[in-house]
Amino acid sequence: MKNKSAFWNRLSNHYYKSPVKRPKNYNSKLDQISQLIRPESSILELGCGTGSTALKLSSKAYSYTAYDFSEEMIKIANRRLDNKKNKVEFILKDIETLSLPYRHYDIVMAHSVLHLIENAEDVLESMLNAVNYKGYIVLNLILLKDIPFPFKALLSFAQILRLAPYLEYQNEVDFIKIIRAKNFKVMRFWKLDKTSIFIIAQRRESYND
Ligand SMILES: C[S@@+](CC[C@H](N)C(=O)[O-])C[C@H]1O[C@@H](n2cnc3c(N)ncnc32)[C@H](O)[C@@H]1O
Repeated sequence: MKNKSAFWNRLSNHYYKSPVKRPKNYNSKLDQISQLIRPESSILELGCGTGSTALKLSSKAYSYTAYDFSEEMIKIANRRLDNKKNKVEFILKDIETLSLPYRHYDIVMAHSVLHLIENAEDVLESMLNAVNYKGYIVLNLILLKDIPFPFKALLSFAQILRLAPYLEYQNEVDFIKIIRAKNFKVMRFWKLDKTSIFIIAQRRESYND
Protein backbone atom coordinates (compact mmCIF):
# COMPACT_ATOMS: atom_id res chain seq x y z
CA MET A 1 0.00 0.00 0.00
CA LYS A 2 2.94 2.32 0.83
CA ASN A 3 4.18 2.67 -2.77
CA LYS A 4 0.78 3.38 -4.24
CA SER A 5 -0.08 5.93 -1.60
CA ALA A 6 3.32 7.71 -1.62
CA PHE A 7 2.11 10.51 -3.91
CA TRP A 8 -0.85 11.23 -1.63
CA ASN A 9 1.26 10.99 1.52
CA ARG A 10 3.57 13.66 0.11
CA LEU A 11 0.62 15.84 -0.90
CA SER A 12 -1.36 15.48 2.35
CA ASN A 13 -0.24 18.65 4.17
CA HIS A 14 -0.57 20.82 1.10
CA TYR A 15 -3.97 19.25 0.35
CA TYR A 16 -5.16 19.99 3.89
CA LYS A 17 -4.00 23.62 3.78
CA SER A 18 -5.29 24.42 0.29
CA PRO A 19 -8.63 26.22 0.07
CA VAL A 20 -11.51 24.30 -1.50
CA LYS A 21 -11.66 24.79 -5.26
CA ARG A 22 -14.96 26.34 -6.37
CA PRO A 23 -16.44 26.75 -2.84
CA LYS A 24 -19.89 27.60 -4.24
CA ASN A 25 -20.13 24.23 -5.99
CA TYR A 26 -18.70 22.39 -3.00
CA ASN A 27 -21.22 23.97 -0.63
CA SER A 28 -24.05 23.18 -3.00
CA LYS A 29 -22.91 19.54 -3.12
CA LEU A 30 -22.80 19.42 0.68
CA ASP A 31 -26.33 20.87 0.83
CA GLN A 32 -27.63 18.28 -1.63
CA ILE A 33 -26.02 15.43 0.31
CA SER A 34 -27.29 16.84 3.64
CA GLN A 35 -30.83 16.57 2.34
CA LEU A 36 -30.37 12.80 1.92
CA ILE A 37 -29.14 12.25 5.48
CA ARG A 38 -31.51 11.18 8.24
CA PRO A 39 -30.61 10.74 11.92
CA GLU A 40 -30.57 6.94 11.42
CA SER A 41 -28.39 7.06 8.26
CA SER A 42 -25.18 5.10 8.04
CA ILE A 43 -22.71 6.57 5.57
CA LEU A 44 -19.61 5.22 3.85
CA GLU A 45 -17.10 7.45 2.07
CA LEU A 46 -14.24 6.04 -0.05
CA GLY A 47 -11.06 8.08 -0.52
CA CYS A 48 -11.89 10.62 2.18
CA GLY A 49 -8.58 12.51 2.04
CA THR A 50 -8.08 14.71 5.11
CA GLY A 51 -11.71 14.22 6.10
CA SER A 52 -13.25 17.62 5.27
CA THR A 53 -16.50 16.27 3.80
CA ALA A 54 -16.87 13.67 6.56
CA LEU A 55 -16.34 16.25 9.29
CA LYS A 56 -18.97 18.53 7.76
CA LEU A 57 -21.66 15.88 7.24
CA SER A 58 -21.20 13.31 9.99
CA SER A 59 -23.05 15.15 12.77
CA LYS A 60 -26.33 14.68 10.86
CA ALA A 61 -25.91 10.89 10.53
CA TYR A 62 -26.05 7.89 12.84
CA SER A 63 -22.65 6.61 11.71
CA TYR A 64 -20.00 7.63 9.18
CA THR A 65 -17.13 5.41 8.04
CA ALA A 66 -14.41 6.94 5.85
CA TYR A 67 -11.56 5.06 4.13
CA ASP A 68 -8.35 6.27 2.57
CA PHE A 69 -5.10 4.43 1.79
CA SER A 70 -2.81 7.36 2.60
CA GLU A 71 -1.42 7.10 6.13
CA GLU A 72 -0.74 10.85 6.17
CA MET A 73 -4.24 11.81 4.98
CA ILE A 74 -5.78 9.56 7.65
CA LYS A 75 -3.45 10.97 10.32
CA ILE A 76 -4.57 14.53 9.52
CA ALA A 77 -8.23 13.47 9.39
CA ASN A 78 -7.92 11.84 12.82
CA ARG A 79 -6.16 14.90 14.24
CA ARG A 80 -9.12 17.04 13.13
CA LEU A 81 -11.57 14.73 14.83
CA ASP A 82 -13.36 16.03 17.88
CA ASN A 83 -14.77 12.79 19.25
CA LYS A 84 -17.51 14.44 21.21
CA LYS A 85 -19.02 16.08 18.15
CA ASN A 86 -18.15 13.68 15.35
CA LYS A 87 -19.31 10.17 14.68
CA VAL A 88 -16.71 9.53 12.00
CA GLU A 89 -14.38 6.59 11.94
CA PHE A 90 -11.38 7.21 9.66
CA ILE A 91 -9.85 3.93 8.52
CA LEU A 92 -6.65 3.23 6.59
CA LYS A 93 -7.63 0.98 3.68
CA ASP A 94 -7.00 0.48 -0.02
CA ILE A 95 -10.42 0.71 -1.65
CA GLU A 96 -9.26 -1.37 -4.64
CA THR A 97 -9.05 -4.49 -2.50
CA LEU A 98 -11.88 -3.68 -0.15
CA SER A 99 -14.77 -6.06 0.34
CA LEU A 100 -17.90 -4.17 1.37
CA PRO A 101 -20.90 -5.59 3.24
CA TYR A 102 -24.00 -6.24 1.12
CA ARG A 103 -26.90 -3.69 1.43
CA HIS A 104 -25.44 -2.18 4.53
CA TYR A 105 -25.21 1.62 4.11
CA ASP A 106 -27.83 4.30 3.43
CA ILE A 107 -25.37 6.50 1.55
CA VAL A 108 -22.15 5.43 -0.17
CA MET A 109 -19.92 8.17 -1.61
CA ALA A 110 -16.67 8.72 -3.49
CA HIS A 111 -15.53 12.24 -4.34
CA SER A 112 -12.77 12.70 -6.91
CA VAL A 113 -11.41 9.21 -6.36
CA LEU A 114 -12.57 6.69 -8.99
CA HIS A 115 -10.30 8.15 -11.70
CA LEU A 116 -7.33 7.24 -9.50
CA ILE A 117 -7.89 3.51 -9.41
CA GLU A 118 -7.39 0.73 -11.96
CA ASN A 119 -10.52 -1.31 -11.29
CA ALA A 120 -12.95 1.59 -10.81
CA GLU A 121 -15.85 -0.27 -12.43
CA ASP A 122 -15.52 -3.20 -9.99
CA VAL A 123 -15.23 -0.79 -7.06
CA LEU A 124 -18.35 1.06 -8.24
CA GLU A 125 -20.25 -2.25 -8.46
CA SER A 126 -19.31 -3.17 -4.93
CA MET A 127 -20.23 0.35 -3.74
CA LEU A 128 -23.67 -0.06 -5.36
CA ASN A 129 -24.11 -3.51 -3.79
CA ALA A 130 -23.34 -2.01 -0.40
CA VAL A 131 -26.24 0.47 -0.65
CA ASN A 132 -29.37 -0.35 1.32
CA TYR A 133 -32.90 -0.51 -0.02
CA LYS A 134 -33.89 3.09 -1.03
CA GLY A 135 -30.35 4.27 -0.23
CA TYR A 136 -28.12 6.53 -2.32
CA ILE A 137 -24.84 6.52 -4.16
CA VAL A 138 -23.12 9.90 -4.45
CA LEU A 139 -20.21 10.36 -6.86
CA ASN A 140 -17.99 13.17 -7.96
CA LEU A 141 -16.35 11.83 -11.11
CA ILE A 142 -13.29 13.29 -12.79
CA LEU A 143 -13.50 12.30 -16.44
CA LEU A 144 -10.26 12.54 -18.34
CA LYS A 145 -11.01 10.48 -21.45
CA ASP A 146 -11.77 13.44 -23.70
CA ILE A 147 -9.05 15.81 -22.59
CA PRO A 148 -6.88 16.90 -25.54
CA PHE A 149 -3.70 14.98 -26.32
CA PRO A 150 -1.25 17.74 -25.20
CA PHE A 151 -2.74 17.61 -21.67
CA LYS A 152 -2.54 13.81 -21.62
CA ALA A 153 1.11 14.00 -22.71
CA LEU A 154 1.76 16.59 -20.02
CA LEU A 155 0.11 14.36 -17.40
CA SER A 156 2.21 11.36 -18.49
CA PHE A 157 5.34 13.47 -18.17
CA ALA A 158 4.23 14.67 -14.71
CA GLN A 159 3.67 11.02 -13.72
CA ILE A 160 7.22 10.13 -14.74
CA LEU A 161 8.46 12.96 -12.50
CA ARG A 162 6.09 11.68 -9.78
CA LEU A 163 4.26 15.01 -9.82
CA ALA A 164 0.97 13.37 -10.76
CA PRO A 165 -0.70 10.22 -9.38
CA TYR A 166 -1.77 7.11 -11.29
CA LEU A 167 -4.74 8.16 -13.49
CA GLU A 168 -7.44 6.38 -15.47
CA TYR A 169 -8.94 8.04 -18.55
CA GLN A 170 -12.65 7.40 -18.09
CA ASN A 171 -15.94 8.82 -19.36
CA GLU A 172 -19.30 8.88 -17.64
CA VAL A 173 -21.08 6.47 -20.00
CA ASP A 174 -19.61 3.30 -18.47
CA PHE A 175 -20.37 4.48 -14.94
CA ILE A 176 -23.97 5.45 -15.75
CA LYS A 177 -24.51 2.05 -17.42
CA ILE A 178 -23.36 0.25 -14.27
CA ILE A 179 -25.50 2.47 -12.01
CA ARG A 180 -28.63 1.82 -14.11
CA ALA A 181 -27.89 -1.92 -14.48
CA LYS A 182 -27.87 -2.19 -10.69
CA ASN A 183 -31.40 -0.80 -10.58
CA PHE A 184 -30.58 2.70 -9.42
CA LYS A 185 -32.36 5.82 -10.61
CA VAL A 186 -30.17 8.83 -11.41
CA MET A 187 -31.72 11.72 -9.45
CA ARG A 188 -29.08 14.35 -10.06
CA PHE A 189 -26.59 14.66 -12.91
CA TRP A 190 -24.71 17.91 -12.56
CA LYS A 191 -21.95 18.71 -15.06
CA LEU A 192 -19.68 20.94 -13.01
CA ASP A 193 -17.27 21.56 -15.88
CA LYS A 194 -15.74 19.75 -18.88
CA THR A 195 -14.10 17.08 -16.75
CA SER A 196 -16.23 16.62 -13.65
CA ILE A 197 -19.75 15.56 -12.83
CA PHE A 198 -21.68 15.14 -9.63
CA ILE A 199 -24.16 12.27 -9.52
CA ILE A 200 -26.76 11.22 -6.99
CA ALA A 201 -28.61 7.96 -7.70
CA GLN A 202 -31.13 6.09 -5.56
CA ARG A 203 -31.72 2.35 -5.33
CA ARG A 204 -35.18 1.64 -6.72
CA GLU A 205 -37.93 0.30 -4.49
CA SER A 206 -37.48 -3.37 -5.26
CA TYR A 207 -35.79 -6.26 -3.57
CA ASN A 208 -35.73 -8.28 -6.80
CA ASP A 209 -32.50 -7.05 -8.37
C1 LIG B 1 -8.23 13.89 -5.04
S1 LIG B 1 -8.17 13.27 -3.41
C2 LIG B 1 -9.88 13.48 -2.95
C3 LIG B 1 -10.05 13.52 -1.45
C4 LIG B 1 -11.47 13.80 -1.00
N1 LIG B 1 -12.39 12.78 -1.44
C5 LIG B 1 -11.90 15.15 -1.50
O1 LIG B 1 -12.85 15.22 -2.30
O2 LIG B 1 -11.29 16.15 -1.10
C6 LIG B 1 -8.07 11.55 -3.68
C7 LIG B 1 -7.97 10.75 -2.39
O3 LIG B 1 -8.16 9.37 -2.74
C8 LIG B 1 -7.23 8.60 -2.03
N2 LIG B 1 -7.03 7.34 -2.77
C9 LIG B 1 -6.53 7.19 -4.03
N3 LIG B 1 -6.47 5.89 -4.36
C10 LIG B 1 -6.95 5.19 -3.28
C11 LIG B 1 -7.14 3.82 -2.99
N4 LIG B 1 -6.81 2.87 -3.88
N5 LIG B 1 -7.64 3.46 -1.79
C12 LIG B 1 -7.98 4.42 -0.87
N6 LIG B 1 -7.81 5.73 -1.08
C13 LIG B 1 -7.31 6.13 -2.27
C14 LIG B 1 -5.99 9.47 -1.92
O4 LIG B 1 -5.15 9.08 -0.86
C15 LIG B 1 -6.62 10.85 -1.71
O5 LIG B 1 -6.80 11.11 -0.35
